[in-house]
Amino acid sequence: MFRMVEIVIEKPAFDQNPSPLVVIGIFESKEYDKYLKYLGSKAKNALKELISGNGLTGKLGTSVMLPILGNTEIEKILLMGLGKKEKFTRDTARRMAGKSALKAREIHQSNFSIFPFVESEEDDVEAIAEGIFLSLYNFDKYKTKDSEIENNKIQRVKLLVNNTNVEKLQAMIGKAKAITDAVNFARDLGNLPPNDCSPTQLISHGLTMADNFGLSGTILERYQMESIGLNGIVSVGKGSDNPPKMLILEHNGTSADATPYLLVGKTVTFDTGGISLKPSEKMEEMKFDKCGGCTVLGLMRAVSELKLPIRVIGIMPCVENMPSSSSYRPGDIIRMFNGKTVEVLNTDAEGRIILADAIAYGVKTFRPRLIIDLATLTGASIIALGANVAAMIGTAVDLKTRLKKLSKDTGEKMWELPLWEEFHDQIKSHVADIKNIGGRPGGAITAAAFLSNFTDGIPWVHLDIAGTAWTQDGTSKKSYNPKGATGFGLRTIVKFFMEESLKGSET
Ligand code: BES
Ligand code: MN
Ligand code: ZN
Repeated sequence: MFRMVEIVIEKPAFDQNPSPLVVIGIFESKEYDKYLKYLGSKAKNALKELISGNGLTGKLGTSVMLPILGNTEIEKILLMGLGKKEKFTRDTARRMAGKSALKAREIHQSNFSIFPFVESEEDDVEAIAEGIFLSLYNFDKYKTKDSEIENNKIQRVKLLVNNTNVEKLQAMIGKAKAITDAVNFARDLGNLPPNDCSPTQLISHGLTMADNFGLSGTILERYQMESIGLNGIVSVGKGSDNPPKMLILEHNGTSADATPYLLVGKTVTFDTGGISLKPSEKMEEMKFDKCGGCTVLGLMRAVSELKLPIRVIGIMPCVENMPSSSSYRPGDIIRMFNGKTVEVLNTDAEGRIILADAIAYGVKTFRPRLIIDLATLTGASIIALGANVAAMIGTAVDLKTRLKKLSKDTGEKMWELPLWEEFHDQIKSHVADIKNIGGRPGGAITAAAFLSNFTDGIPWVHLDIAGTAWTQDGTSKKSYNPKGATGFGLRTIVKFFMEESLKGSET
């Protein structure tokens, strides 16, 4: 569960506001003069001594804790290496701010102060706030005793800014807080163990959130899905005693008949593979197979809390993929919601089947302006791009460009893979319209090719977050991504919605 930490803008004046710990970022060029005037003579001398004495390189990832003995204004300075100035990005700021917060927590501080890392304070403030809010996340719901971390909460961070625009900066922090709270909410759900997170339980968490955040929500039960022909979702879900469900959330930031944006998230509470059973090694990680849906829930929460003047629909098709005598089987042919038939050749390729139905349902019901789906869809996307990059595939040219651009700032790396005709050939079936696997070659792309059969020509982007939705083998350490579910994709997509809101593009 995430901690309540508050970040406040304050002018640096340590004689009036003493601080137990001050964080200062130092580039490899070692410019630090700009800080000296605030520090008082003791701290100033200690800092000069350390820097001129070559005790500090400023290399990225290095840090030095400097105690200032007998000084009450500032008791310690934490010097964070920021690396080369030319290479510094928003994501470096996010990571280094997160790292500072973790260091402060490690030495049991309940509060600390931090200077922005670069002159353009406004850009920096947001990234620093995000880094702090995200890095202090910790999932300890199932610890019976208070953990080390539980006992060491950081309550207050002062962001030291000598700027008259305090209100504007404080508002930026407020937005960063709303967004990172939504990320941490998505993480909390993603981290739930599968025995406490059946489709019924997860959807009810979603509905509770919707009530709390003023979203309207509709649940489709199994019998309702059967009666309207959501046979893909029912087929995948029927092998489990925990019945499948679908949640549809609406944020009507303008009128309830504006052309909406559609979000769809793969929500498999546990993926055993079904009759095409997975090997047992690492199978426990398949509790994270619901992360696409959890991110959609977080996004709905964020757009509502930010009161964005747009209409957004979020759909979570939710199932547990289990082997049993009532499971769907290899060889089955399913008539999907949009009427197309699918030959099942592997019950472990279940994500595309439930997503396809949910996309087709969203398209038919809402005629959205565009579709974004998020899914832990294929191991092949991890083989292609590793565990730090999501695969982006789709038909919405402008949206792809925008997301790529935004992701440079958010640090949520996305790389496009092509969706050419050849990939569609791989999923042709002899007995049905298409089959649910296309063989090993280009597996992330054939999964997307499958989905494209259900978008009815509406501009669409698919994000395969199999490698990035949780920390796994091959994940690079980032301070702001603690172990477990990451909430990947949320920050980038919410930025896209914020841009769209400014355009006033709603009709
Ligand atoms: N949920 C998995 C994809 C996955 C695997 C995500 C490992 C993260 C780590 C998905 O349902 C799946 O099993 N996909 C199969 C598809 C195959 C049968 C065509 C896969 O990737 O092996
Ligand atoms: Mn699977
Ligand atoms: Zn799956």
